[in-house]
Amino acid sequence: MSLHENKQKEPLLSVQHVKKYFSVTGQWGRLGGVKGQVKAVNDVSFRLVEGETYGLVGESGSGKSTTGRAILRLTEPTDGEVFYQNENIFQVPKRKLQRFRKDVQMVFQDPFSSLNPRKRIGKTIEEPLHIHRVGNQKERRERVLDILDKVGMGPEHYYRFPHEFSGGQRQRLGLARALVMEPKVVICDEPVSALDVSIQSQVVNLLKQLQTEMDLAYLFITHDISVVRHISDRIGVMYLGEIVEEAPTDDLFSSPLHPYTQALFSAVPRTKNERNRERIVLKGEIPSPLNPPTGCKFHTRCPFAMDICKREVPKRKKIEPDHFVTCHLYE
Ligand SMILES: Nc1ncnc2c1ncn2[C@@H]1O[C@H](COP(=O)(O)OP(=O)(O)O)[C@@H](O)[C@H]1O
Ligand SMILES: [Mg+2]
Repeated sequence: MSLHENKQKEPLLSVQHVKKYFSVTGQWGRLGGVKGQVKAVNDVSFRLVEGETYGLVGESGSGKSTTGRAILRLTEPTDGEVFYQNENIFQVPKRKLQRFRKDVQMVFQDPFSSLNPRKRIGKTIEEPLHIHRVGNQKERRERVLDILDKVGMGPEHYYRFPHEFSGGQRQRLGLARALVMEPKVVICDEPVSALDVSIQSQVVNLLKQLQTEMDLAYLFITHDISVVRHISDRIGVMYLGEIVEEAPTDDLFSSPLHPYTQALFSAVPRTKNERNRERIVLKGEIPSPLNPPTGCKFHTRCPFAMDICKREVPKRKKIEPDHFVTCHLYE
């Protein structure tokens, strides 16, 4: 999608200043009192437009999954707003979330979590149609067979059980279950991370094909740089609960600005015109979100850290029309 198109379209999903804090109790549980707060998601904003893929990338523990879950209110958000078709989803009473839950589906890393091991596949995929009272028995069965076909499976799979399938096939079935309601948005949380590399690209290509066929927008969550690059139109890079850089995919890879983005990308093979990109090796582990560094949270691992980075929280800055970075180097 070109930048121009991107701008003209209204966002389908607008995520604004979302926060999710977890209270952590001490060794003695409640008696120990509240030990602290994990700021798993701390002021995350981005928008998703129709038909596009927004990739969320970052190391394990950076808050990607919690962001996805908070948007769907699978975990109650601490603060912020999520607008879907101009309605603030965080203000909607839970029992009135049906339409949103129908339009915005989630696909997980482990499809077992959405496939009941004791139920035949056909019935599992049909379940959401039951819940939302779609069609009669015959129509529902037809829709299941249709979606099975779309994800590259056949009618012969209808009566089988989840354990009879390979990992790649199970992920296709997980996808079928998410897509049977014909959603507009799919939040994919590490959908290919558990699969062999050869199978990964098949599933990523299937996701792309279905996106065009069914006009889907994806929020694609992964720690895998190559995968996120392959599928995303725009990417947000997360570190300790914050998006530190956001740009269209090609811009981000040709000129990563944040030292954290540069470091993440250092680990993956470069293309010809990226040869002069600097190689940065990250020092140490990701700090505990229970006790994050002051100022810029990345300063403890940043090879370019200055004095100000320890003291002051950097502000998000627009470098190009669609390229944002939160780093003192650019202030
Ligand atoms: N239910 C929970 N209670 C306490 N801490 C949590 C909970 N869920 C996630 N966290 C913490 O929030 C941070 C972000 O986790 P997560 O969103 O799973 O990151 P990612 O998906 O990027 O690996 C981690 O430090 C994690 O330990
Ligand atoms: Mg995760």
